[in-house]
Amino acid sequence: ASSNKFFVGGNWKCNGTKESITKLVSDLNDAKLEADVDVVVAPPFVYIDQVKNSLTDRIEIAAQNSWVGKGGAFTGEISVEQLKDIGCKWVVLGHSERRHVIGEDDQFIGKKAAYALSEGLGVIACIGEQLQEREAGKTFDVCFQQLKAYADAIPSWDNVVIAYEPVWAIGTGKVATPEQAQEVHAALRDWLKNNVSADVATKTRIIYGGSVNGSNCAELAKQEDIDGFLVGGASLKGPEFATIVNSVT
Ligand code: G3P
Repeated sequence: ASSNKFFVGGNWKCNGTKESITKLVSDLNDAKLEADVDVVVAPPFVYIDQVKNSLTDRIEIAAQNSWVGKGGAFTGEISVEQLKDIGCKWVVLGHSERRHVIGEDDQFIGKKAAYALSEGLGVIACIGEQLQEREAGKTFDVCFQQLKAYADAIPSWDNVVIAYEPVWAIGTGKVATPEQAQEVHAALRDWLKNNVSADVATKTRIIYGGSVNGSNCAELAKQEDIDGFLVGGASLKGPEFATIVNSVT
């Protein structure tokens, strides 16, 4: 970890029921969380209100997506204004499942980030290469291109956390090695330094996502440029998520 405040997000994805979420919230409320860590969870939209009303204020709420502009005649979408209205402080954007399953492109994601920031939401800006891109030696190219699309669209990085999530590590149990993750994180920081500013490069938190669990988090957290985690599967278990939150040394 760098000297930035550690940041751990739990991305619940499209999982849970009222019942399972009641249990998860109660486990999170009971958990002892390291004081110097920002902790955020991203429930499915339909449970955000339930979570907001029952979860400790120690943990902030993120949405898993948001509409690209002001609300209105956009069937099936959820606006940034609505997310703020129910107490969200953050939104996850550009997740690989939205890029590669739903088909969102870099520019659309950049616009979403700009809009959410302009309305005061924090953005967890995801990027990451697919397996064939890594194997073709294109990891940096792909990540830089995705990062550039955010940089081109947003006026400020103050309220942005970058989440590096190699697609081949997501939900596969195949975590990036600490060296693999550190290598990309350092390159991303370098890119920010060369293309945005030295200040933004130092202060922007770069978190890692992809098969993080209670057993592999400590080694990853030791890496100089890893400022936290975005956790999928393991965030559905309260005690394990707490272990990950507390992994910073
Ligand atoms: O956003 C978190 C994520 O994509 C990682 O998921 O299940 O591999 O921890 P998982």
